[in-house]
Formats: sequence, structure tokens, C-alpha cells
Amino acid sequence: MAAVRFEAVSKVYGADSRALSDFSLDVEDGELLVLVGPSGCGKSTTLRVLAGLEEATSGRVFIDDTDITDETPSKRDIAMVFQNYALYPHMTVFDNMAFSLKMRKLPKEEIKRSVTETAEILGISEYLERKPKELSGGQRQRVAVGRAIVRHPRVFLFDEPLSNLDAKLRVQMRNELARLHSQLKATMIYVTHDQAEAMTLGDRIVVLKDGFIQQVAPPLEVYNNPCNRFVAGFIGSPAMNFFKAEITDGQILSAGGRLEINGVADGMYTLGIRPEDILVRERGQFICSVEVVETLGNEKVVIGIAGSGEQVTARCRPEIDIHPGGELRFDIDMTNAHLFAADGVESKI
Ligand SMILES: Nc1ncnc2c1ncn2[C@@H]1O[C@H](COP(=O)(O)OP(=O)(O)O)[C@@H](O)[C@H]1O
Ligand SMILES: [Mg+2]
Repeated sequence: MAAVRFEAVSKVYGADSRALSDFSLDVEDGELLVLVGPSGCGKSTTLRVLAGLEEATSGRVFIDDTDITDETPSKRDIAMVFQNYALYPHMTVFDNMAFSLKMRKLPKEEIKRSVTETAEILGISEYLERKPKELSGGQRQRVAVGRAIVRHPRVFLFDEPLSNLDAKLRVQMRNELARLHSQLKATMIYVTHDQAEAMTLGDRIVVLKDGFIQQVAPPLEVYNNPCNRFVAGFIGSPAMNFFKAEITDGQILSAGGRLEINGVADGMYTLGIRPEDILVRERGQFICSVEVVETLGNEKVVIGIAGSGEQVTARCRPEIDIHPGGELRFDIDMTNAHLFAADGVESKI
């Protein structure tokens, strides 16, 4: 196992397609680190540079204290699992998993033991003689993970490995990967565009946007203290509400109402309020016209238009009687409120 370090890595494809900018990051030995961000933000590029499938335009990459920037992929001892499992269709599950070990010319007995043990960990022992086309999506993904595990790589890389699975299976496989991580205690870097996956899986998460790191922190820290408006809006579902806010003498005019605030300089800000901090109350001072009501069983998510004309999303108890076209009154709990200056950076309240 191993620690990974990126030192000021940039990647420019072709003449001017900048995918990664000044990317510096330390991944601890045995950590499960999740890279999250919208499509095209540079997640796959980060993994590909680490695996040696792409060359960094500038900067250095280390495993432990060894500079591997110019090392060939096969020397790096890194295993990567992709979204499309990329199994060999004509080979059995056993042979798929054994392939890299055979290439390394390990003794037959050792290969057999390694594949059998790994299949057991992943619950695929009974499928070892099947071909990939005779497996479900989840089983194929387990084989792809198994093929990585048998190699005992120093680092595991996962590039959106669960995106092809249906929602329920995705949650199940996510839990299995978390279990696998605590079992193997291996260094893993996991890439996803799904913030829920990042929140539930990562020891720490790295939020990326346009090739730039926005924030690196444990999931709850990112949720409770997002460093800027982008992170605040990207992490959390339903997403945080944003209202224009004018502050004068400790008073905020926002969302069609008035709130108290202390210790913030006068000026124009964006007020960030999570949907759970919109408190639905009969005599609430704010009002919105209801446009959409999503009934989720354990709660209702209401989307409406506030007095200021801005959209507001609230999470309500399921028994509340509310319909599109109606009105909803609410207060705002300022305990966990966020204020963002014009440049998007959070101002501490
Ligand atoms: N081989 C390539 N040639 C040119 N541009 C590329 C290449 N691969 C990726 N890019 C560009 O680099 C950016 C980051 O891509 P990628 O790392 O694949 O993002 P992600 O995995 O986060 O969706 C995107 O704008 C993408 O279009
Ligand atoms: Mg990608």
C-alpha cells in the first residue's frame, strides 16, 4: 500500500484544452478519497495521469517518496476499475481475474488461491466458470473489482464504476466497496459525479470544478462549511437555496422578508439556506407560491417562488397538505445560514 502525492500537476490536451490546473493533493496511505465534480471537470484526467495513461503537462506525481511522473504504467503498480467493466468476453470469470497474474507468470497454484479467495470476498465464487455475458451488471462489476484486487496493487483507482448500475444496485455496491475498503485497508481514489456517492463513501472528498480543486475535507465538513458558492450548491440534495441579500445595520433584506444578523459588513451578498432550514409555519414571515410538490414518502419536497421572485426549495413533513398553485408560509432558521460575497467566497457569519 502507499500514499499518493500530486504536486502542482497540470494537464493540457492538444494546444489549449486545459483539463487540470495546479492540482496538488496528498492522499494518505489506506485512505478512501473521493474526487467529485460535474462532468468534464477533470476527474478522469486526474486518475489517468496517476495511472500513467496520460502524461502530465507539468508538475510531479509521487507514490510514497518515489517520483513516478516518468514511469511507465506497468511499473506503477496501480489498478484501475472503469465504468464499462472492460472484461474479456471470451474468457471465463476465473480467467478474467487470473489474466494479469498469468501475465506475471505466477505459479498456477498461487493464481488459483488468489482468484478463489478474492471471489469469496466478493461473493462471486459460484460464477467462476461463467462468461461475462452470463452475468448481471452488478456481478460483472464485481468481477472487474476482483480483477483489480488479485493484483494487490499499491493503489486502487475507481472511475465512476457504478454509473451503469440501476439505483438500488448502486447503493448496494457502494456499501460493498466501503466494506471492501475497510477489509483491505488499501489506498483508494474513487471518482464520481454523484455527490451522494461522494458523501457516503469518502473519508475525505475533493470537489473539483473546471480542473481546479475547490475544497478538500471530510464529507460533513464540506456539507456544513462549503468554502464557496459552487461547493455549497453542488453538495447536498435537494440543493441549497440562494437568495440575493442586502445587509444594512445588522438587518438582511432577502427572499421577500427581513432577518437579523450580527457582525457582517453592510453590502450585497448571497444568502445560502439549505432546504431543511426552511421552516414551514402557518404564521411564517416569508411566503412562496407553490409550483411543484414531490411526495417522497418520508417527506415532501416543495419547490416554490418566494416573495422576491427567487426559487425556494423546502423539505416538509409528509402529512402537510400542500398542492401546486397554493401558498406556503415559512421562516428561515439562520443557525446554519451561509453568506457569500460577490466573488462567491463564503463570509463567515
Ligand atoms: N483526449 C482528450 N483530448 C482533448 N480533450 C480532452 C481529452 N480527454 C479529456 N479532455 C477534456 O478535458 C476535460 C476534462 O475531462 P475529464 O477528465 O474526462 O473529465 P471528467 O472525468 O471529470 O468528466 C474536459 O473538458 C474534456 O473535454
Ligand atoms: Mg470521467
